[in-house]
Amino acid sequence: MQLNINGQSRNSNAGASTPLLWVLRDELNLTGTKFGCGIAACGACTVHVDGQAVRSCVVPASALVGQKITTIESLGSAEQLHPLQAAWIAEQVPQCGYCQSGMLMAAAALLAGNPNPSDADIDTAMTNLCRCGTYQRVRAAIHRAATALNKPAIKQGGVA
Ligand code: FES
Ligand code: FES
Repeated sequence: MQLNINGQSRNSNAGASTPLLWVLRDELNLTGTKFGCGIAACGACTVHVDGQAVRSCVVPASALVGQKITTIESLGSAEQLHPLQAAWIAEQVPQCGYCQSGMLMAAAALLAGNPNPSDADIDTAMTNLCRCGTYQRVRAAIHRAATALNKPAIKQGGVA
């Protein structure tokens, strides 16, 4: 089957019931997406499917043919960080780091649908688990990124 992953058509020989997570990690070497629980409980495996946060450990890749899959590898780049990634650094969010790619993907989907989330909105949307307890910093970083994203762009010539 052909899958649309990070804007590219990628071939997979996975069986019909193979979860997307294993196609990403084992076939395509996109190892930024992590395995935690395998039962849609922790969020370590979160990716976007057509812009929505999806837990890739429980979704068969074969069900996603024709849909746009985005992984942490294309959220930003070293040269151009996504505002969430910049905020994550500024707020020193990661501890061990294991859950963080899933956290970032869940946060990116949240901000895409709600550019100015309240604490309650964040707590409702961010159901990812973190053994290191980074929840307060995750919340602060999402607010920081939302502020950055909502700032009007400075026009050429210096007048906002
Ligand atoms: S590994 Fe998918 S939700 Fe935990
Ligand atoms: S940073 Fe360690 S599990 Fe979240």
